[in-house]
Amino acid sequence: MNTWYLITLVVLCSCCCQRVLPCPDLCTCYSSINATQVVCSNASLSLFPASGFPAITTSLSIEYTNLSSISALHLQAMPFLQELHLSGNRLRDLPPHLLSGLPHLHTLDLTNNQLEHLPAGVFDNAPLLNLVLRDNRLSTADAHWLPPNSSLIWLDLAGNRLTAPPTGLLHNLPLLETLHLSNNRLEKLPAGTLDSVTRLKRLHLEGNKLSSLDPSSFQNTPNLTHLFLEENRLEKLPAGLFQGLLGLDVLSLNQNRLRSLPPGLLDKLPALGRSSGQGVDLSLNPWDCAGGVAYLWEWIQSHQRLAFSLEDVQCATPTSLKGRAISSLTEEERRGGAGERVAEIEQTGTV
Ligand SMILES: *[C@@H]1O[C@H](CO)[C@@H](O)[C@H](O)[C@H]1NC(C)=O
Ligand SMILES: *[C@@H]1O[C@H](CO)[C@@H](O)[C@H](O)[C@H]1NC(C)=O
Ligand SMILES: *[C@@H]1O[C@H](CO)[C@@H](O)[C@H](O)[C@H]1NC(C)=O
Ligand SMILES: *[C@@H]1O[C@H](CO)[C@@H](O)[C@H](O)[C@H]1NC(C)=O
Ligand SMILES: *[C@@H]1O[C@H](CO)[C@@H](O)[C@H](O)[C@H]1NC(C)=O
Repeated sequence: MNTWYLITLVVLCSCCCQRVLPCPDLCTCYSSINATQVVCSNASLSLFPASGFPAITTSLSIEYTNLSSISALHLQAMPFLQELHLSGNRLRDLPPHLLSGLPHLHTLDLTNNQLEHLPAGVFDNAPLLNLVLRDNRLSTADAHWLPPNSSLIWLDLAGNRLTAPPTGLLHNLPLLETLHLSNNRLEKLPAGTLDSVTRLKRLHLEGNKLSSLDPSSFQNTPNLTHLFLEENRLEKLPAGLFQGLLGLDVLSLNQNRLRSLPPGLLDKLPALGRSSGQGVDLSLNPWDCAGGVAYLWEWIQSHQRLAFSLEDVQCATPTSLKGRAISSLTEEERRGGAGERVAEIEQTGTV
């Protein structure tokens, strides 16, 4: 019924009352046949506009202003709201049940505010699909921010201060497909973290402090297509880590501390590179070409075109091969014979 009411209002307004559509001070309002958008981007706006919103507003953007607080009451003036964009303001906290009057809200963007703690129930009562909390100051993500069985498919917590993954919250998100946790302070991804988000397709973990991963990390996320692990501190990967990820298309492992790959790690991943031709980034790791490089070298030989930045997939050791692209090693070098002899000569100084 609400939808018909909305459509009737919009149709009526588009023919007869467009000229008198109200609009709050410091804002601009746009309306079309099925949408009414309010955009407030004047930097001097510091209080939520007290009045003047079209009742049929479907999208509200208050971005890059001085806004520092918002309440459920403010939002209840726009019961048809579907999208709420609040990036680049000065919000430090949000009240519980902020969205309680918004039965149509599917997208909430709070990027680049100063949020530190959010209360339980803050995002209850709205059928959210997309929630963006990127670039705030959150150090924890609470399970009770969202109700059990939330409909969320996209959650972005990148650029916060999380020291642990939001496992409890993920339990409430059975439909999640995209999870951004990049640029936080994660040191571990405990076994079971992702077990509840079985539909996950894209996982961003880059720019954290992960030094190892449990072999079972991705065992319940068979639909992963994009996995970003670059710029961590990974030293070793378990051999079966990517087993069963038959749709894995992009895998980034660059800028870690990997010295070798366990044999078989990248085997049986038939979708690698499917979307763009390239699929795996192994560059800028301190590869050890004296010992464990055989599997990596062979994989590179048979998958040259799949790898990003092959010239930056280089040996760090032994000294004699330092800086050499692994793809350019001769068979003798990769077996270590020549490398070790040269290294010996370097060390003893004899020719
Ligand atoms: C309005 O209609 C257009 C074209 O059919 C569609 O792309 C858009 O998503 C609709 N907007 C809303 C808010 O329903
Ligand atoms: C912002 O609002 C102030 C006060 O109404 C006005 O003087 C100024 O021109 C506006 N700035 C922009 C960029 O619209
Ligand atoms: C934003 O608010 C701060 C603190 O209240 C004030 O100093 C500053 O002048 C305001 N900026 C604008 C553009 O109004
Ligand atoms: C979530 O939804 C599923 C399927 O509709 C249902 O079986 C399950 O009990 C629900 N869980 C909770 C915690 O509400
Ligand atoms: C994975 O994707 C396929 C095809 O889209 C779908 O049928 C299947 O249910 C998905 N698996 C999970 C665990 O969501």
